[in-house]
Amino acid sequence: ALISMRQLLDHAAEHGYGIPAFNVNNLEQMRAIMEAAAKTDSPVIVQASAGARKYAGSNFLRHMILAAIEEFPQIPVCMHQDHGTSPAVCQRSIAMGFSSVMMDGSLGSDGKTPTSYEYNVDVTRRTVEMAHACGVSVEGELGCLGSLETGMAGEEDGIGAEGVLSHEQMLTDPEEAADFVRKTGVDALAIAIGTSHGAYKFTRPPTGDTLAIQRIKEIHARIPDTHLVMHGSSSVPQDWLAIINEYGGEIPETYGVPVDEIVQGIRHGVRKVNIDTDLRLASTGAVRRFLAQNPAEFDPRKYLKETITAMREICIARYEAFGSAGHA
Ligand code: G3H
Ligand code: 13P
Ligand code: NA
Ligand code: ZN
Repeated sequence: ALISMRQLLDHAAEHGYGIPAFNVNNLEQMRAIMEAAAKTDSPVIVQASAGARKYAGSNFLRHMILAAIEEFPQIPVCMHQDHGTSPAVCQRSIAMGFSSVMMDGSLGSDGKTPTSYEYNVDVTRRTVEMAHACGVSVEGELGCLGSLETGMAGEEDGIGAEGVLSHEQMLTDPEEAADFVRKTGVDALAIAIGTSHGAYKFTRPPTGDTLAIQRIKEIHARIPDTHLVMHGSSSVPQDWLAIINEYGGEIPETYGVPVDEIVQGIRHGVRKVNIDTDLRLASTGAVRRFLAQNPAEFDPRKYLKETITAMREICIARYEAFGSAGHA
């Protein structure tokens, strides 16, 4: 059944678990996410980014999610719009039937320019007013995602601040978070703790200086009733990097957010954990390996099936590690 994010995250908070929110762009991802959820009996959050809407088209994404709900009627599914850059973008998703939207007012409508606190409060509050009137949940974001090593936002394309960010911009302030939640009424709050989008998060395994799990505890202590969201939470599996590079890829040494650190975050109020890159890496590794080992194959179903298997394994592992398994 289609369910709002608020309902899912309230249940997660009550029972002390987190839910991975996987980005979805194609049929193979959708199947991997749902088959893994069915296998582990987990609730599902699938999210569509601007890039996904550009690639697949909003109608295809929407109907793919509705098809998933039809085929897996026992699994609660939240249809979430990732990183909306304006209230108008969120309004279109609400009109299309999304049960949850993210208004990312930490960046301007170009998805690149860091904004003022007042701007963020204003666009987020307006989105909450509109969404709640339709029974739709809202995720806001306070603080900019970025690497505490370099001050850079991460991905070249897609959502992310342009230029170098200050330490202060990349760590959500607990007091400001409390004020933001009070003024906007958001259902969930994405916080900045040193993670960034994409595969290049950390040049070496993160430490307390580069991944501020401690900050989650401080924010949760200040706003214990607000569901916290971690973006940029791919773990960048070293085994998939090795497979990609073994079969012709050229991805330099890089590290993601260790699953154990995310689990620490879940102990302190994190309820939604955004993951896109890990499924991309697994897909690419699976395709490269299959085509290298089966050079005469040309049926896309053969190699795309490998991507479903690879992504499904990662989804199962996250549902289990974050504790959402068994809670559908
Ligand atoms: O927001 C970041 C997600 O990984 C989506 O990225 O816009 O390339 O689909 P995308
Ligand atoms: P990753 O790039 O770490 O998978 O993060 C995805 C994300 O935050 C989508 O909003
Ligand atoms: Na989101
Ligand atoms: Zn994100």
